[in-house]
Formats: sequence, C-alpha cells, structure tokens
Amino acid sequence: MSVEKRTQSIDLSHHLSELSKARLTSPLKGLMKYFEQPGILSLAGGLPSPAYFPVSDISANVLVPESFALTPTESSTSLSWLWKLFGSHNATKERTQAVTIPKYPAVKGDISLADSLQYGPAVAQAQLQEFLKHFISEVYRPAFEDWTVLIDTGNTDGWSRAVMTLCNPGEGVLCEEWTYPSAMASMIPFNIQPVPVAMDGLGMKSDDLENLLSRWDPVSRQMPRPHVMYIVPVGQNPSGSTMSVARKKQIYDICVKYDVIIVEDDPYYFLQLGTYTFKDDRSPSATPSGKPSADESERYVSTLTPSFLNFDYQGRVIRLDTFSKTIAPGSRLGWFTCNPVFAERLERQGETSAQSPCGFGQSVITKILTHWTYDGYIRWLRGLRTEYQQRRDFFIDCLAEEFHLHAVPAVAGVWEGCIMYQASSKVKKSTGMTEKYSARNRTMFSFVPPVAGMFVWMRLHLDQHPSFAPGDRDTLETKLWTKLGENGVLFGPGWMFAANAMAENPDDNDSGHFRISFSNVEFADLKKAVTIFGRVIREFFQEDL
Ligand SMILES: Cc1ncc(COP(=O)(O)O)c(C=O)c1O
Repeated sequence: MSVEKRTQSIDLSHHLSELSKARLTSPLKGLMKYFEQPGILSLAGGLPSPAYFPVSDISANVLVPESFALTPTESSTSLSWLWKLFGSHNATKERTQAVTIPKYPAVKGDISLADSLQYGPAVAQAQLQEFLKHFISEVYRPAFEDWTVLIDTGNTDGWSRAVMTLCNPGEGVLCEEWTYPSAMASMIPFNIQPVPVAMDGLGMKSDDLENLLSRWDPVSRQMPRPHVMYIVPVGQNPSGSTMSVARKKQIYDICVKYDVIIVEDDPYYFLQLGTYTFKDDRSPSATPSGKPSADESERYVSTLTPSFLNFDYQGRVIRLDTFSKTIAPGSRLGWFTCNPVFAERLERQGETSAQSPCGFGQSVITKILTHWTYDGYIRWLRGLRTEYQQRRDFFIDCLAEEFHLHAVPAVAGVWEGCIMYQASSKVKKSTGMTEKYSARNRTMFSFVPPVAGMFVWMRLHLDQHPSFAPGDRDTLETKLWTKLGENGVLFGPGWMFAANAMAENPDDNDSGHFRISFSNVEFADLKKAVTIFGRVIREFFQEDL
C-alpha cells in the first residue's frame, strides 16, 4: 500500500489485555471536559489553589540550538587526537538564552506554572501536545490519519504500560534475540515471556519471523502465537544495528498477515551516525550554515530512516519516543504515538499510577521546545548527532590504534551482511610477550562499527582462548569482565542482553560479548579505557586458566 494514501486505523481492540479491558474510566477524569470549560465554577475536584504553589516563576539559561557544530569541529589530522584529549568541549564557551515560565503569564496561551503544576490532562499540556503533533507529522508522517499522542515518563514507562495494556499472563512477546534487558524485566515477572527472533546486520530477520509465526505450535510452545512485538529498530540495544526501509516493510507486512502489534522503542532515532570511516580516510565535509531553517530541517529529516509509523496504514504500531537521549534522562518525559483506542487504554493505565509526568519537567521542556521552535529543535538534534558521531569515531580510532583490525564480510550471525573488524594483537617489538602472542595471530574479538546509537557490540572469540572447552562461554566472559573491572574498566557483560536461553544460536555458541558505551566518557578516558582493555585482553588470551 502506498504510504501517501492515508487511512483510518482499523479496529484492533481484540488485542487489549483482560486487565486493560477491566479498567474503568477514573470517575474524576471523566469529568475533565467540564473542568476545561471556560468560566466554569469548579468546586468538584480536590485541586489545591495555585496561590499556594511556592514557586512564582522558573527561569533557565538554555543553550542555543546551534550550540554544536554540524561537522566535526576540526579535520582528522593526527593533531585532532591531541585536541580531543586535551581540549574537548570545555574549551568552547556555552551560548545561552534566558527563558522564564511565570505562574501567571501576561500573554494568554503562554505556558503558565499555575496550570503546569496543577493536576492536568494526562495526554500532555496543551503547548506540548501541539508541538509534538507538529513534530510527528513532519518527522514520522504516520500512514494512518487518526494517530494520537499521549505523554509518559519515558520509554521504560511506555513499554511497561504497553505490556499491561496488550498482554495477558502466559503469552509471549516477539523480540530481537539480543535485546534491552529492562524491557524483558518489565514483562517476565508477569509470566509474559520473550520469544526471540534471529538477527542479522539489519536487526530482526524477516524470514525467521515468518517461519516462527507460520509454524507456531501452541501445544509444544505452551503459549498462543504471540500478538505483540517489541523492537528497537535504530541503534539497536545492544547490537547497534539499524533496520533498512525494505526490512521494515517486510516485518510490517508479516505483522499484518499474522495480526501482530508492533511496539517500536526508538530512543536512538536521532543518533543516526552514518558509516564509520578510518581516521586516515576521512575527508572534511563542507561546513553547512548551521542556522535553524525550514529547508535545512526538511532536508535533514529526509535523510533519516523512516519509522514503522510511516508504513502503518492500519494503526498497529505503538511508537515510543523519549527525551532521555535528546534533552536529558532526568526529565522523565516521553510519548506514545498510536491509534486512539490504544491511546485511551494506555491513558487509563497511567492515570492510576503517575497520573501524568511531573509538571516542573513538562513545563521546562515545553518552554525549551517552544522557545527553540521546531526548526531549532531539529538543529539541536543535528548537532547532537555530530557530537555522538565524533565519540563513536574516536572510540573506534582508539581500537584501531591498539589492535590490528582485519576487515572481513560477515556471512552469518548478527552481523550478516556487514563488514566486520576482527581484532588481533599488534606486533610490538618492545614487549616479548606481545610478540610471542601476536605470532599466533589469534582473533581476540570482532565488532561492526555501529551506524546509530551509543554502543559497540563486541563479540569475544573465546574459542581462541588456550583453556577453552565447549560450554565455557559464560565462565570465560565473566572472567574477562571481572579482570577488566579489577583494572578499572567496566563494560556491559553480554549475557545480560540475551532475550533468553533460546538466544544461543550455534553461530554464537563459542563467543561471549561485551556492550561498550562510548556516549558518556570523556575522550581522554575513552583512550585510557582502550589502552587498559588492550593490556588485559592480551594477557587474558595468553593465560591457561
Ligand atoms: C532500547 C531502550 N529503551 C528504553 C530506554 C530507556 O528510555 P527512558 O529513559 O525513556 O525510559 C533505553 C535506555 O537506555 C534503551 O536503550
């Protein structure tokens, strides 16, 4: 179906869980429409008087949207390393603008603390609703017309509400074979089990999904065929893969065929970093103007891989967005985009717990967004992308300095279809040990530079360890992880990210994994961590344990 032709969502209410169907409208929330009537004399709710809110205004100095450059700030000469190690961001002075949110604004329609700090509509404060609607229609362009926006306290909250709204105990949820552990943790205690689908370099494999669903046997599986999918299609956590448009369309069509709801958890959407190029092969790109503008926004948005929403002509996608990676995780603010029936049930689910995200955070974020405007926010996102791209590049440059990297096409497993780098020791004449080791030319680990997100997923070739025996994977992974910890470097241990024991496909049986985040450590510390990692892993692969 053409994505240009927009349709109404179809009735998907049969997907609602028993718990969700049993939820009544909160008695007071049902009266909200009267509360909002201009001039109404409301003596109904337990609303405190704003006169007693102890904050008369909130002021903030907000960075300008063009704070971060759109291309790496200096060319990739060998000096750039020194600049990153010793200069970095602190050298540049922040440019800020002051914004204020008064309790009672002079201009009608401006954000008011009297409203923001009051019990309010769970869907979002009016100005935020308006901003998000415009943002979604410009950036994601859903293929169905009646999409609805509902705010939440971030994607963790969004996913756990989706689970409760859609799944019954005893059911399974389709997910990537390696996935975000917190997402699994929010469903497993309710006896809702992960059903892993194999991955390749583009994320979840559509042929495996089709096979799994077409051959589903509820008796041997001891659960009905799954009707919900949890997926992280951009900068997948942990593998770093990003799904192509063609793969997304295939997955969407399979979900239509087997009536599956797709929950698209997409916190890294705006960290689409592009392909990694070795330091010496990088050429400085032309410097764009860097000023927010409608043309620049449109051009940039068109370079982003489309969301599942863009193919969703039935309204079977629940998209989860968050400000955690684009503004700050402590804001605890995000939103659902989905069909109105699901949105209404998700709202009911939320109003018996948090009710709505914190009014302080909501008003400050809304103020920043409306102050920047849509084009300013897009400009901010573009700057962030370049910042994380530089961190990714620097981290992989450090690996390339420390190890010998050999590029090979991956023919199977989670990197199938990608160029993978196999890392072995570099010959260092000064140390007898390294020389002896490198003579054996063992691959100690391999990885694919991520094209999005914050992580490098590293596969450890534990079968190359002198004391390796089949079945030793977890023990050796933990031993190396512990040694690194003892030497002051912490990586994410790979076992945490397996959707469940079924994730052990034969290809990966003899390898361990680490998830390494390059997003939050200063350049000098990234370099230090790679040097320590180099020493520890070389020693580890020498040892007969
Ligand atoms: C895939 C994925 N989903 C959700 C989250 C958490 O998002 P939020 O802070 O919005 O709850 C993360 C954070 O690391 C993540 O990687």
